[in-house]
Amino acid sequence: MSTLEIRDLQVSVKLPDGELKPILAGVDLTIKSGETHAIMGPNGSGKSTLAYSIAGHPKYEITGGSVTLDGQDILELSVDERARAGLFLAMQYPVEVPGVSVANFLRTAKTAIDGEAPKLRTWAGELRGAMEKLQMDPAFAQRNVNEGFSGGEKKRHEIMQLELLKPKMAILDETDSGLDIDALQIVSEGVNRVRETGETGFLLITHYTRILRYIKPDFVHVFVGGRIVEEGGPELGEQLEAEGYKKFLVKA
Ligand SMILES: Nc1ncnc2c1ncn2[C@@H]1O[C@H](COP(=O)(O)OP(=O)(O)OP(=O)(O)O)[C@@H](O)[C@H]1O
Ligand SMILES: [Mg+2]
Repeated sequence: MSTLEIRDLQVSVKLPDGELKPILAGVDLTIKSGETHAIMGPNGSGKSTLAYSIAGHPKYEITGGSVTLDGQDILELSVDERARAGLFLAMQYPVEVPGVSVANFLRTAKTAIDGEAPKLRTWAGELRGAMEKLQMDPAFAQRNVNEGFSGGEKKRHEIMQLELLKPKMAILDETDSGLDIDALQIVSEGVNRVRETGETGFLLITHYTRILRYIKPDFVHVFVGGRIVEEGGPELGEQLEAEGYKKFLVKA
């Protein structure tokens, strides 16, 4: 049982001239393993900033508040230490890693996170199984990470990592964007398989209620102007779809 606790988190983005531009204005959020939280909010409201700040992207400066995982201050940790502590981020725009094959990348990541190399005999099968479940051509194992992948292929690869790495907390930043109808279902099923273990907490950033029909959130948060302005159940997502953010923009 794990708990990610975000308290009054304030974050600025570092501009090239060294100046700080405030983005997150005090975010409070608690996620427990087995729970799925959806965050919905207008473009530019700071959703990806929240995801990157938790993951430890150097572009963002924490100016106040705290983030702990099972009581441990994760803001003090390096990016790889955070991953080893059990945090996982599926990026809105996954980066290409030229020269590193998917197979090598996943094996290295698995080794780093588990603290020991996966058994050669079982690993190949595990990898093949994960690719099969996400209906990815086995040829992807030999391709360089995300290089030349279509938008949807990148997102499937992110969920493949999720299934193989079994993190304590998974932040999925617009994993549904750019997926065709079948892929959305395949990716959602992948997320639901991990959910069913009850051992992972999810923070699902999305613009569309469509994915929330496949992956039923326990909580929906409305994110406006760098903070959460409203919380509710799945019905809040439906309400947003029907009414938009107008009423919350005024509030913020
Ligand atoms: N280098 C930068 N210079 C200026 N502003 C920046 C910089 N990096 C980020 N920002 C601003 O931070 C704000 C928050 O961006 P963020 O990517 O977190 O939004 P988002 O909620 O994820 O939006 P979307 O729904 O479009 O993905 C935006 O207004 C963005 O322009
Ligand atoms: Mg974003």
